[in-house]
Amino acid sequence: MARRAGGWRRLCLLWCLLRLAAARRPPPHLVVVLADDLGWGDVGWHGSAIRTPRLDALGAGGVRLERYYTQPLCTPSRSQLLSGRYQIHTGLQHQIIWPCQPSCLPLDEKLLPELLKEAGYVTHMVGKWHLGMYRKECLPTRRGFDTYFGYLLGSEDYYSHDRCVLIKAKNVTRCALDFRDGEEVVTSYKNMYSTNLFTERAIDLIANHNTEKPLFLYLAFQSVHEPLEVPEEYMKPYFSIKDEKRRHYSGMVALMDEAVGNLTDALKRYNLWNNTVFVFSTDNGGQTLSGGNNWPLRGRKWTLWEGGVRGVGFVASPLLKKKGVESHELIHISDWLPTLVHLAGGHTNGTKPLDGFDIWKTISEGRPSPRVELLHNIDPLFVDDFPCLGIDNRTSLSQNSSFTWDDTLFNISMHAAIRHGKWKLLTGYPGCSHWFPPPHLSNESMIQSSDQPTKRLWLFDVVHDPEEKNELSERYPNVVKKLLSRLQYYYKRSVPVFYPDEDPRCDPEASRAWGPWT
Ligand SMILES: *[C@@H]1O[C@H](CO)[C@@H](O)[C@H](O)[C@H]1NC(C)=O
Ligand SMILES: *[C@@H]1O[C@H](CO)[C@@H](O)[C@H](O)[C@H]1NC(C)=O
Ligand SMILES: *[C@@H]1O[C@H](CO)[C@@H](O)[C@H](O)[C@H]1NC(C)=O
Ligand SMILES: *[C@@H]1O[C@H](CO)[C@@H](O)[C@H](O)[C@H]1NC(C)=O
Ligand SMILES: *[C@@H]1O[C@H](CO)[C@@H](O)[C@H](O)[C@H]1NC(C)=O
Ligand SMILES: *[C@@H]1O[C@H](CO)[C@@H](O)[C@H](O)[C@H]1NC(C)=O
Ligand SMILES: *[C@@H]1O[C@H](CO)[C@@H](O)[C@H](O)[C@H]1NC(C)=O
Ligand SMILES: *[C@@H]1O[C@H](CO)[C@@H](O)[C@H](O)[C@H]1NC(C)=O
Repeated sequence: MARRAGGWRRLCLLWCLLRLAAARRPPPHLVVVLADDLGWGDVGWHGSAIRTPRLDALGAGGVRLERYYTQPLCTPSRSQLLSGRYQIHTGLQHQIIWPCQPSCLPLDEKLLPELLKEAGYVTHMVGKWHLGMYRKECLPTRRGFDTYFGYLLGSEDYYSHDRCVLIKAKNVTRCALDFRDGEEVVTSYKNMYSTNLFTERAIDLIANHNTEKPLFLYLAFQSVHEPLEVPEEYMKPYFSIKDEKRRHYSGMVALMDEAVGNLTDALKRYNLWNNTVFVFSTDNGGQTLSGGNNWPLRGRKWTLWEGGVRGVGFVASPLLKKKGVESHELIHISDWLPTLVHLAGGHTNGTKPLDGFDIWKTISEGRPSPRVELLHNIDPLFVDDFPCLGIDNRTSLSQNSSFTWDDTLFNISMHAAIRHGKWKLLTGYPGCSHWFPPPHLSNESMIQSSDQPTKRLWLFDVVHDPEEKNELSERYPNVVKKLLSRLQYYYKRSVPVFYPDEDPRCDPEASRAWGPWT
């Protein structure tokens, strides 16, 4: 008896020591790098002609997320990354926040950097914000970031950091600087390429980080969004590409690849890497009008086809239990908030109900994803897409009610898509619906969608048909009904779209810089 009790005591002591050791392991540094408009077909490991050796190596040594989804556009993806909530819950269902709209990610949303700050982190943001700036309360420094260095809008010139905007109410195009350090406009970085500047600032932050506190660094590159600008030397390996846009774009991807390499080298050099979780993600699919590519996926940026939403992403970290593997589990950009907050030992108290899931065990250990469903979006206002090669110019759908699906389930004229298990249902006009091969596959030509212009409902098994070629709605009416009722469930719980008119007071004529105006 006595011996057995002693054994138990020893076991208990061991357990307590293990618990203590676990408790004492400092929370990991969290580094999230977001690329802009990087397409599915634009990285080495997806067979691109563009070489991305640093990204390839990081992904190969970590976990590549091969069934990972973002939103089809900048503001929506960024809003979900930082809030953990779908756009139907924040009012940002429609397009993006344009420069002169008095709108930002709602101020009553508690954001990832605020939660990490509460968990004891130092929080830095470098790069593109694009979550609204019409008043000071919307700025990154007021939303949880200790420091900020970058662009408040999008589409700036990479060297001058100017953004030109047509202010419709005044019928004037205004070009002004969009570059801030903290909340101050900075003018001293002219003629320096943004990606180099952002990387240098990020490396400075890493070099000067006091390791007594854990670090959260959110680096949102402007690369590889248009304008298509890059120093000549990065284009050299791609001179044989005849398509001028693709040639420039290839150089831009190559430069960003080098920047990510420099960043991770710095994390190693300054001894943070051992305890770092490094996340790399695109914000949406590639824009085929600006050199990007999502082949063999259908569609592109702005669309709800896989080419718009199936994203490039990976996690690299010495803390991963299984490394050098691919994950085929369903993961979404809204999942990072709960995942990173829990990794940080923090809590999500104070957030509104989250749409994201903690997927750390899915990534680190290969467990099944807790996410079985994904609402891609419901946008009742959808009207527009860029001209779709002069073939598919629809801006809105004709009022044709001869469809077979019961409209009382869900109004299928609305731009919407949902995923459940292997099934994906799209309604309304999903956006430009063709397949665009990259220039180096000269044996392939663009495949035009053969859908009737009046078609407004599609069902695909995207696990077995990721290219969305085999439409199955007629074969599986019960699946269609189930997914329509799920869409209606979300639609009923959505907040109204907030998409205000432009405010001409945004005009930076006097200040010479874009920024808060009220
Ligand atoms: C806007 O300004 C241009 C000249 O800059 C002029 O040609 C055009 O008619 C104006 N449009 C409106 C709607 O006033
Ligand atoms: C990466 O680091 C090298 C060496 O310091 C530097 O020459 C290069 O410009 C850096 N590249 C980027 C994209 O930051
Ligand atoms: C990081 O890991 C390496 C290899 O395990 C080790 O040599 C090094 O001392 C570690 N550094 C820190 C700061 O823990
Ligand atoms: C978070 O909320 C839960 C439930 O309301 C509470 O038990 C817990 O103490 C809170 N955590 C912190 C750190 O405030
Ligand atoms: C269905 O949605 C379309 C597109 O948003 C809209 O124009 C139409 O009024 C809606 N119909 C009904 C009955 O709500
Ligand atoms: C679509 O728009 C383009 C220009 O934007 C035009 O050249 C083309 O004729 C249009 N096609 C159709 C079918 O309307
Ligand atoms: C509605 O669509 C059907 C089939 O797609 C087509 O045959 C019919 O002509 C269309 N009706 C109108 C009014 O456009
Ligand atoms: C084009 O070439 C690629 C690679 O060489 C091949 O995988 C693909 O099947 C070819 N496509 C066609 C239509 O022949």
